[in-house]
Amino acid sequence: MEHLLIRGKRPLVGEVSISGAKNAVVAIIPAAIIADGVSIIDNLPAIEDVKCLQDSLTKLGAVCQLIDEGTLMVDSSALNNFNATFNSVRRIRASYYLMGALLARFKQAKVALPGGCNFGTRPIDLHLKAFRALGAEVDEDYENGIISLKADKLVGTNIFLDTVSVGATINIMLAATLAEGVTVIENAAKEPHIVDTANFLNMMGARIRGAGTDVIRITGVKELHGAEYMIIPDQIEAGTYMIAAAACGGHVCVKNIIPKHMDSLTTKLKEIGCRVIEGDDFVEIVSEGRLKSTKIKTMAYPGFPTDLHPQMAAGLSKADGVSILTETVWENRFQYINELRKFGCDIMVDGRVAAIHGIEELHGAEVMATDLRAGAAMIIAGLTADGITKIGNVRFIDRGYEKIEYKLKALGADIKRVKE
Ligand code: UD1
Repeated sequence: MEHLLIRGKRPLVGEVSISGAKNAVVAIIPAAIIADGVSIIDNLPAIEDVKCLQDSLTKLGAVCQLIDEGTLMVDSSALNNFNATFNSVRRIRASYYLMGALLARFKQAKVALPGGCNFGTRPIDLHLKAFRALGAEVDEDYENGIISLKADKLVGTNIFLDTVSVGATINIMLAATLAEGVTVIENAAKEPHIVDTANFLNMMGARIRGAGTDVIRITGVKELHGAEYMIIPDQIEAGTYMIAAAACGGHVCVKNIIPKHMDSLTTKLKEIGCRVIEGDDFVEIVSEGRLKSTKIKTMAYPGFPTDLHPQMAAGLSKADGVSILTETVWENRFQYINELRKFGCDIMVDGRVAAIHGIEELHGAEVMATDLRAGAAMIIAGLTADGITKIGNVRFIDRGYEKIEYKLKALGADIKRVKE
């Protein structure tokens, strides 16, 4: 059993380098199996979700191994199995991308229902509706937790997404790359990792236009080939360190990022009293004195990301005044609030809205990471609290943050991992 132990109330000062984007790499690794060849993926983050996918691809018959620190080779030429029902698939959310990728390659797939963070219902109806529209038969076996897909052929079509969905947008791109004719996704999600996945697929020979806008056009091609690709920096990891710097006070340079991806957060950090200096591939956060309160509503990109909401709630717990945080993407993302209250945070929740009454001082607490980003929020609260904080369920945090305690320690935080 591992815990993080934090002694709080130290300013953060220095530089932190951001790893490759979790939500891009978990789509790009499955995308690599559509080609019958070798792909090289650079800037790979060392996180548990990647290990899970590596394990899944290996079980499917691909060779999927690190050839260097941060570089993964996927050789899918020997991949001969479309039955992905093993445990590593059930452990993470993004294994739903194996549906689109295997369907494109074999015209059939059997995939265990995805796991991952639990913040309310996480349906995949839009994914399945789109696979059906492309010509696949879909069998939903919820008793055994398995989705089976089969098509004689996939044929391009127009797909309007009722809800803006990152996963459905990417899954349709994957499935449609080798379909006959043209597929048009309307009301597509626009997150940076959608553009990144489309760029990788295009380097593999796909014809995808419009990724990053709400209309994406995929012209089917006969086959894809392997490609070498560098994953974009992680917008959410970068945002987590930016919020930590704002909350702890200090001066932090968050390096190797795409500052444009951070616009919604940068605007908020300025609003609550931080100085933000933007460079070509970095932002510096200078935070002095008490933060001001604000209003935040999570939205699809380029809005404020839901995946930064818990960290921001922790960061605003000591702000001057009442902050209002409205969650519009996930119905039940507020489970972590009970854990934040253990630090003394004064937060009221009504449906999808949280009112955070800023208090002068948080005190260290013994808490659990209830999911990945909630875990990051516990770290931020612990860093700003007086005394010692002990965080359990660290495995959630390891799913998406590379070497988090080392990166924070380098900024001056007093944090360590302990085994019990
Ligand atoms: C992805 C991210 C996750 C992030 C989320 C929103 C990955 C691996 N995960 O999750 O970290 O929190 O985007 O930015 O990239 N919906 C449906 N039906 C569907 C699919 C989604 O109703 O078939 C709804 C969901 O309930 C949710 C909304 O659409 O309310 C957005 O979900 P979606 O963008 O699909 O999230 P994920 O791709 O699962």
